[in-house]
Order: sequence, then structure tokens, then C-alpha cells
Amino acid sequence: MNKEIKGDWKVGLVEHWRYYLPPVRPCPSDLEFIKKKILEKIEEYNGDKSKIKLLILGSTSEYRNLCGELGIKCYCFDFSKPNFDYLAEEVKNKSKEVCIEGNWLDGIPKSLKKIKENEKFDFILGDCVFNITIIKNHKKLVNTIFKLLKKEGSLIPRTFFKEKKEKITYEEMIEKYRKQGSKKPIFTWLAKDLYLGAFKEGQEFILVKQIWENLVKLHEKELISDDELEELSKLSFEDRDFEFCIPVKDEVDAFFKEKFIIKEVFLTPEQYCCNKLCLHVLKKRIK
Ligand SMILES: C[S@@+](CC[C@H](N)C(=O)[O-])C[C@H]1O[C@@H](n2cnc3c(N)ncnc32)[C@H](O)[C@@H]1O
Repeated sequence: MNKEIKGDWKVGLVEHWRYYLPPVRPCPSDLEFIKKKILEKIEEYNGDKSKIKLLILGSTSEYRNLCGELGIKCYCFDFSKPNFDYLAEEVKNKSKEVCIEGNWLDGIPKSLKKIKENEKFDFILGDCVFNITIIKNHKKLVNTIFKLLKKEGSLIPRTFFKEKKEKITYEEMIEKYRKQGSKKPIFTWLAKDLYLGAFKEGQEFILVKQIWENLVKLHEKELISDDELEELSKLSFEDRDFEFCIPVKDEVDAFFKEKFIIKEVFLTPEQYCCNKLCLHVLKKRIK
């Protein structure tokens, strides 16, 4: 496949998505947490599920499945209808689903331009959306979300973050992994450090092909086996110009506080998240 069109979610990646596992996908505790929030809202609406309006940024199958389980309609805001359709195959409990085509960074999609307050969303869920958009685009993303969220609504992004100056080398990563007994699946246990360790000094975001370059070097040094490299190759990092950033926790909190009130921060407890993944519950700051 042509390198240029292999870059991001628009082309190709979706076919490899089945090999992506938590924590790059929502973890069981994240889903439980979101479920609780939705159930609370259903109660507020006196059990009337039809009143819940929920928007997913992208087509995250786990979130769609949760909507199916709870019997609520869901809207997916995705620039790729083919991705929405492809990921539908993973959704066991399907609710009524609507795909709203558009790029989060291009403002409100046409079909929502005239949205009234009572048609806006109670929940907007974003899985790693502040990781797969780069920091200089976060304002655009937030401006769009802000206009689509109800006054009392909650934006719940799930985000990988880091501490200021936090870094790790791939050698340190693999040493830690071996000490943990090389737990399986390897992608799950390495994920957080695979992304963090690929950053070069001063880089604001990585291209995920850097992950592959680092893995190949580890393999050459015989620090990972043929089988491990083979398993990680299924993620299709090679040649992929997919941008990924990891914001600093304090900075991302400060950024959110410009437009939102942080109601709650849920630190994903799964051990492989290393306390570096969280869900924010954000309410609109109305001036
Ligand atoms: C599974 S979802 C959520 C993100 C995922 N957790 C990740 O880490 O990439 C990815 C979906 O979001 C869509 N998507 C990615 N960037 C987008 C953007 N800027 N605007 C609209 N949809 C986007 C893709 O087409 C894909 O179907």
C-alpha cells in the first residue's frame, strides 16, 4: 500500500484494529465506570432511556456495545463511514446507531449545524481522542465538542497521559516486562511504554512507525523473540505515519479547565495502565 495513504485512520488501520487490545482500547473498568454514569442519567430521566443522547467521537465498538446493552441509541461522529461499518462487526449488542460523517477538526458537521439545546448530547465519549489528535489541534476539537454538549452534559474522554519529563527507553521497558514475568498479551503489557518510549527528545508527538523502528532494534539485540516481534507486527506500526501524542497530566487538566469544570477523574485501575490512563468527567463552564 502507498505510504502516503497508509498514514492515519482514513485508510487501512481499521483492518488491523482487531489486534489492538486494552489499554489502547477501553479497559473493563472504564466501561463499568461509563455504564454507571449512564445509568445515573437514566434515573434522572425517570427511567426513560429514550431521552439519553450519547455521541461517540469515532466508532469505538466497546462504547457502541455498551449502548446496545443499556438499550440507548448512539451517534458516532466519524470521518469514515467505512470504518463505522467495519467496526460494527465487533458490536455484539447493537442499539439504534447513527453515523454522523465529519472530521472532529473541521467544526460542527453539516447535519448538526442547526442543533437546538434540547437536541444536544448528554454524553460525549472520546476514546484516546486527545492522543490521536495532536496538541495544537486540541482547541479545535474542544470547540466542536463544546457546541454539541448539553448545558448539563458530560464530556468523558479517556486519555493516556504522562508526568512532565517522564520517559523510558525500550531497553528499560523490556527489562521491566521480563521482571513482571513477560505477561501476556505482550501488547497489553507493553502498550503504555511502547508509545511513551518512542518519543525522541523534544518531540511533541510520534509517528507510530517509530514504535516499529524501535522494536526492530530490540529484536536485533535479541531482547525480544521472533514470536514477540511477529505478534507486535500485527498492529501494523510499520510505515504508518499515524500521529500520537501523550499530554502531560497537569497541562491537560489546565487545558480542560479553560472550558470545563473537572467533576471527576477516574484513574483506570488495571495494572497494565500503570496509573497513566484516566477518564475525565467534564461539565461545561458556562460564563
Ligand atoms: C475506534 S475510534 C477511537 C480511537 C481509538 N481508541 C484510537 O486509539 O485510535 C477510531 C475511529 O475514529 C475515527 N476518527 C479518527 N480521527 C478522526 C477525526 N479527526 N475525525 C473524525 N473521526 C475520526 C476513525 O475513522 C475510527 O473509526
